[in-house]
Amino acid sequence: MSTVVLIYSGGLDTSVCIPLMREEYGFDRIVTVTVDVGQPAADIEQAEERARTLGTEHTTVDARAEFVEQYCWPSVKANGDYQGYPISTSIARPLIALKAVDAARAVGADAYAHGCTGKGNDQFRLEYVMRTLTPEIPIIAPMRQGKLLPGGGREPWTRTEEIDYAAAHGVSIGQSKDKIWSIDENLWGRSIEGGHLEEPNYCPPEEIFQWTRGLADTPDTPEIVVIGFENGVPVSINGESLSPLEIVLRMNVISGRNGVGRVDVMEDRMLGLKVRENYECPAAVALLQAHKALEALVCTQSELKFKAHVDREWGELAYKGLWFDPLKEDLEAFTNQIQPRVTGTVTLRMAKGSSVVIGRASKWALYNEDLASFDSKTFDQADSEGMVKTHGLQSRMYWQICGRG
Ligand code: ARG
Repeated sequence: MSTVVLIYSGGLDTSVCIPLMREEYGFDRIVTVTVDVGQPAADIEQAEERARTLGTEHTTVDARAEFVEQYCWPSVKANGDYQGYPISTSIARPLIALKAVDAARAVGADAYAHGCTGKGNDQFRLEYVMRTLTPEIPIIAPMRQGKLLPGGGREPWTRTEEIDYAAAHGVSIGQSKDKIWSIDENLWGRSIEGGHLEEPNYCPPEEIFQWTRGLADTPDTPEIVVIGFENGVPVSINGESLSPLEIVLRMNVISGRNGVGRVDVMEDRMLGLKVRENYECPAAVALLQAHKALEALVCTQSELKFKAHVDREWGELAYKGLWFDPLKEDLEAFTNQIQPRVTGTVTLRMAKGSSVVIGRASKWALYNEDLASFDSKTFDQADSEGMVKTHGLQSRMYWQICGRG
């Protein structure tokens, strides 16, 4: 008996993979794993139902709390961002792969399968984790390999062929013929692709957004939100202590109803493709903004400058899914060293699609009211004179020597 563990979303691509595993790849035991990282309950149910119809051994793993605590929170500490994208799909993939590894070990799998195509980033992220932890188990990617042609050779599946193939195996994905959006959702964000959305100059239709209200539907009165942080991670909203999962769920609602969290960027994918991407990340946008504001209050200037570099490196590694990379651990050692001071509160004012920091407080604040005020007793302004005179010494010499000005 040969067993394959298939990472299963319940969508078209991965549903097609199930009969393919039997008919083309010759497995007789198919174990499907769906990992709940906060996608809609209807998607999870659909996956379970389709798995039943297609006759797999199915498990759903509720990884929502783990996702927030072990993946979103490290991302908050590192101000996790890639080219303006608050990395969300990216950071869920290692966890999904990890659950597939657990399943493969439990059932003694002979192979893994996933539904990623050959164009995106997810194939890299999933396979890196599986290959790191279980290098002996081969990985099959039927969507990347393409459809087997009658005379041998392969070509990419078309959507219609996939729908027909699924229907022939008892799964009707009929209405998807006009469902043009490819959506990936988790608690940290929602990515919408497909149709004309990849085109840099195409104005996305309002209908692609589901977590954030359009400007016309947002309240006229601004909403004030106070986020409490401890050790670099959010612990409360408006004074109410909440679990990590509750915080993300609640912030998605608060930001979303104010139209905060839409992100539209040009993204350089791992294969070098430059693609326009649309995201809704209501909780991530607000929590990252607040975290950065608190770091700006408690860190020294040189720490901030250095950390911006550390954050960019971390964001790139996380985007690539290199979750176990030693450099990532090294960078986190620096980041974690600072985080105990990132404790305090940040006040945001949200209105009409914007979120603005209007206050921050911490017992670690590198701020002294007396020093900063105009009539300070401790800061003697006359002391500045000598420093001002030497300011820009070399650049002034340059201007004199080169005869400019
Ligand atoms: N470009 C994003 C990333 O690499 C999202 C990819 C998945 N999105 C999707 N709609 N299928 O993280």
